[in-house]
Amino acid sequence: MIEIKNLTKSFGTKKITRGLDLTIQDNDFLAIIGRSGEGKSVLLKQIIGLIKPDSGEIIIDNQNIANLTKVELEAVYKKCGYVFQFAALLDSLNVLENVGITLLENNVSPEEVIPLVTEKLKSVGLGQDVLYKYPSELSGGMKKRVGLARTLMLSPKILIYDEPTTGLDPITVKLIHELIQQTHERLNATTIVISHDIEIFKYAKTVAMLHEGKIIYTGATKDIWECKNPYIYQFIRGLEYGPITNNEIIEKHK
Ligand SMILES: Nc1ncnc2c1ncn2[C@@H]1O[C@H](COP(=O)(O)OP(=O)(O)O)[C@@H](O)[C@H]1O
Ligand SMILES: [Mg+2]
Repeated sequence: MIEIKNLTKSFGTKKITRGLDLTIQDNDFLAIIGRSGEGKSVLLKQIIGLIKPDSGEIIIDNQNIANLTKVELEAVYKKCGYVFQFAALLDSLNVLENVGITLLENNVSPEEVIPLVTEKLKSVGLGQDVLYKYPSELSGGMKKRVGLARTLMLSPKILIYDEPTTGLDPITVKLIHELIQQTHERLNATTIVISHDIEIFKYAKTVAMLHEGKIIYTGATKDIWECKNPYIYQFIRGLEYGPITNNEIIEKHK
């Protein structure tokens, strides 16, 4: 279980996370939605310990990671796999090196690493033919798969995806969503997907909405289209008028 309590984070005078509470159950598949710039990525980076919160608690497996040292955090990193927004593969490394990086860095021989990498690539639907390709030779969808394969090398208990389908065509979006779901089920992991792609509701179990630095709604995705919460109602339908844009509309007509 991940329990976030009264989390705050500012950059300079800009308040991003403003007393955020969120509980994520083990094995949940949670979609976090919210507008661009609301602080979804900042929240995710606090959960994985890349950004230190100003105050509040992030309790993962009974441990408050908000107060950990760098060394202590590494143990948490090992437990939490994560996939970055733009499948941040290292451009100067080929697929084998990108996926097998942790092992290769620890002097495990390529002969031992290749079968492990091949197996992970297979589980994300890629063949051995990509092993020696560089990121620049891969399509957007393939890069996301390679990013996921790299995360799977760690057999994570928690999988976090930051906008995994941004910039992909609708067919690839569906394939990536299915892959995320299969991975969720196979690893029996807790999955958190940050997305503004409403297709995610077909896959996620739970949805949480971030607005003005707080989680203002959590509920089951299966009820989302009947949900009367005015923020959710406006967001998922992409309506111009509603509580989310109230201030902007007032500004516009001043
Ligand atoms: N390291 C940083 N330093 C300063 N400002 C940041 C930093 N990271 C994010 N921000 C700001 O925090 C806000 C939220 O960003 P982000 O979490 O990326 O939004 P999104 O919900 O689109 O993922 C933005 O205004 C962004 O400019
Ligand atoms: Mg983001």
